[in-house]
Amino acid sequence: MHEDDLELAESQHLRSLTVAEADGDERAVEAALRPRTLDEVVGQVRVREQLGLVLEAARGRGRAPDHVLLSGPPGLGKTTLAMIIAAEMATPLRLTSGPAITHAGDLAAILSGLNEGDVLFVDEIHRMSRPAEEMLYLAMEDFRVDVVIGKGPGATAIPLELPPFTLVGATTRAGLLPSPLRDRFGFTGHLDFYEPAELDSIIKRSAQLLGVSITDDGAAEIASRSRGTPRIANRLLRRVRDFAQVRADGVVDHDVAIRTLELYEVDELGLDRLDRAVVEVLCHRFGGGPVGLSTLAVAVGEERETVEEVAEPFLVRIGFLSRTPRGRVATPAAWRHLGLAAPPSGAAEPPLFD
Ligand SMILES: Nc1ncnc2c1ncn2[C@@H]1O[C@H](COP(=O)(O)OP(=O)(O)O)[C@@H](O)[C@H]1O
Ligand SMILES: [Mg+2]
Repeated sequence: MHEDDLELAESQHLRSLTVAEADGDERAVEAALRPRTLDEVVGQVRVREQLGLVLEAARGRGRAPDHVLLSGPPGLGKTTLAMIIAAEMATPLRLTSGPAITHAGDLAAILSGLNEGDVLFVDEIHRMSRPAEEMLYLAMEDFRVDVVIGKGPGATAIPLELPPFTLVGATTRAGLLPSPLRDRFGFTGHLDFYEPAELDSIIKRSAQLLGVSITDDGAAEIASRSRGTPRIANRLLRRVRDFAQVRADGVVDHDVAIRTLELYEVDELGLDRLDRAVVEVLCHRFGGGPVGLSTLAVAVGEERETVEEVAEPFLVRIGFLSRTPRGRVATPAAWRHLGLAAPPSGAAEPPLFD
């Protein structure tokens, strides 16, 4: 899959702040802002060090590195790291994604086209079909695929040797990967939300690359409202830059940042429309829960996966929502954020643990 398609798939998967997000220019900007080496990556100190070691050791041995799994919410740098792995190994990156592999044959075609040392990036690897997954186990472990020729009783499987390659899988849901697949990765990096200070550096770096002048308090304001996510930080920076250009003197300062973020309905915690809808529906309509994910998704008019993979991780992270065996529950902090008193005990039950 071409990188642009991948980016498009990503931007469709994520909620976009404005319709302009689907615009090719914006995607080109996002690509331009990607760190190109491990040293340029801000934050994720542990993953960076672990991955750096894996790559350096492989380089020293002159071998393809072990397979790498990257997991974490959208926009935290999985695709960026996959590209960096290929760049650091000075090998081409082949891109595909779980949903693009509908038949095992699709995967067989990709695998048989690999050259020695190539990095194969499978985005959203948890969404691959079962037969493709099984083919991948064999390819990862033995560098072999069985290509099935013909159909029905006369079908024969011809084993095909593959050159050593490195699989890099990315997933927003490591828990959904079957353990035989998970176990075949030599290294798993879990990406976590970024601290405001890290987002601050990312924003300043991006502003420099984009030729935008930004004040310290302007950058800090955007950083604190980026929901711990570099992609959102960069996106907000672009909106604030537009505002500065059209309605101010071009400089991104604190006032411009605040006014832009208000315009785009990003609140002081960085919650956007979907985040707030989830919290509001949970408190107003379901008395704080517990409520099932599907019910909650229908109530906010979103796909189940979007609520679960895009909105929830951050709400859980800031302590607004807990996932319990009986459903989603709003915390007292969530009620307070809406300016409401938490209901008397009984309505919102404390989380249950197994
Ligand atoms: N650690 C980081 N340092 C600097 N910029 C980053 C970092 N991680 C992500 N970004 C920026 O955020 C954007 C989204 O990252 P991406 O790798 O596409 O996320 P994911 O694949 O996890 O959804 C990239 O364009 C990149 O500019
Ligand atoms: Mg990605």
